[in-house]
Amino acid sequence: MLTPIQIYCELLEGELSDNEELSDYLNEINQAVNECKTVANQLLNFGRNHTTSSSNAKFDSVEVIRGHIKRLRSSLPNSIELVSKLPDTAVFLCGERLQLVQLLFNLCINSIHAMEQSGGTLTISYSTEGEEAILNISDTGSGMSEETKKHLFKSGFTTKKEGMGNGLGLAIVCKIVDQFDGKITFTSIENIGTTFTIRFPTCENC
Ligand SMILES: Nc1ncnc2c1ncn2[C@@H]1O[C@H](COP(=O)(O)OP(=O)(O)OP(=O)(O)O)[C@@H](O)[C@H]1O
Ligand SMILES: [Mg+2]
Repeated sequence: MLTPIQIYCELLEGELSDNEELSDYLNEINQAVNECKTVANQLLNFGRNHTTSSSNAKFDSVEVIRGHIKRLRSSLPNSIELVSKLPDTAVFLCGERLQLVQLLFNLCINSIHAMEQSGGTLTISYSTEGEEAILNISDTGSGMSEETKKHLFKSGFTTKKEGMGNGLGLAIVCKIVDQFDGKITFTSIENIGTTFTIRFPTCENC
């Protein structure tokens, strides 16, 4: 249903290209449609059971994380510094690579929102320890209150203003971590920042 809106936006783009104000409005519509698509896909995937064997492919997680960092770098505001530390060699995980992309997206977007006012540093580090891969996503943003810490993984829980958040991001992250047979933990201090740690089993021999 959203596709016709996008197609008509594209058609109008050509017509309105020399009208800056109307082009800006069209841009806003396009962005909102893209966001609607993302949320709709998240909801669909959230309700789906990903236990079929075809979803358990072996893939290089370092390559996926590197690609995400590259895209992130080109879209971050100047007030946020991005620091990354990745292994030089491939680290294989078993699962759906797109789910790892979704997990990175959901965690990084939360960090970016938490640093929106103050700016700060987003650090993405990835390493291996025995047969585990450890992903840390850390920010120097707002941190969380004790009350928020109790509920943050619940589907529908958000502290964002109406229309700014659906409280789905972390619930989806938890589901993805489960599908990778991983574990998620976090630490957060108000006005200091937040770190999410995810431990994935690697699949060097699967
Ligand atoms: N890095 C972070 N720093 C501070 N607070 C966070 C961070 N990550 C999550 N939170 C808190 O946890 C809440 C739930 O996060 P979650 O990603 O599930 O939903 P959301 O970001 O509010 O909405 P959505 O992800 O659906 O757009 C957030 O509203 C926020 O209060
Ligand atoms: Mg979120």
